[in-house]
Amino acid sequence: MEQTFIMIKPDGVQRGLVGEIISRFEKKGFYLKGLKMLNVDRSFAQTHYADLSAKPFFPGLVEYIISGPVVAMVWEGKNVVVTGRKIIGATNPSDSSPGTIRGDYAIVMGRNVIHGSDSIESARKEIALWFPEGIAQWQSNLHPWIYE
Ligand code: PPS
Repeated sequence: MEQTFIMIKPDGVQRGLVGEIISRFEKKGFYLKGLKMLNVDRSFAQTHYADLSAKPFFPGLVEYIISGPVVAMVWEGKNVVVTGRKIIGATNPSDSSPGTIRGDYAIVMGRNVIHGSDSIESARKEIALWFPEGIAQWQSNLHPWIYE
């Protein structure tokens, strides 16, 4: 089953959106397979966003991510990478539709509340980076009620 990496950024944590965000993924039917709150240091944030290191906004993005605790999660389900990005909404909150997390809770790009892997390959790399200890293995009893 496909997995994705989701991170609630420091603004999402400070604003008390953790429960709301988890609830949206749970209610959709995705399975929460990994969860932790942590502070990341500059070098870790730079590694996570390494593909963006040449962008002008990179230093500010790193400062934002290290400015407070984040919640790192692994979610599992059919097409969870693409569907998770739809639940999150467009990267720029000006473009995110109401009903999405960013559309409902964010206004500017530099405080857009949440990150989600943009591909299966990115998800694999990000889960390995954020959960080097691995994640618990379990099967939900609800499975036959969510999948035919
Ligand atoms: S790009 O330029 O197209 O590669 O960037 P994009 O795919 O739109 O966004 C990649 C991540 O960079 C964050 N981003 C920003 N953060 C702060 N300020 C500015 N101006 C900014 N522009 C882009 C954006 O939120 C994406 O972060 P994640 O955590 O992956 O959503």
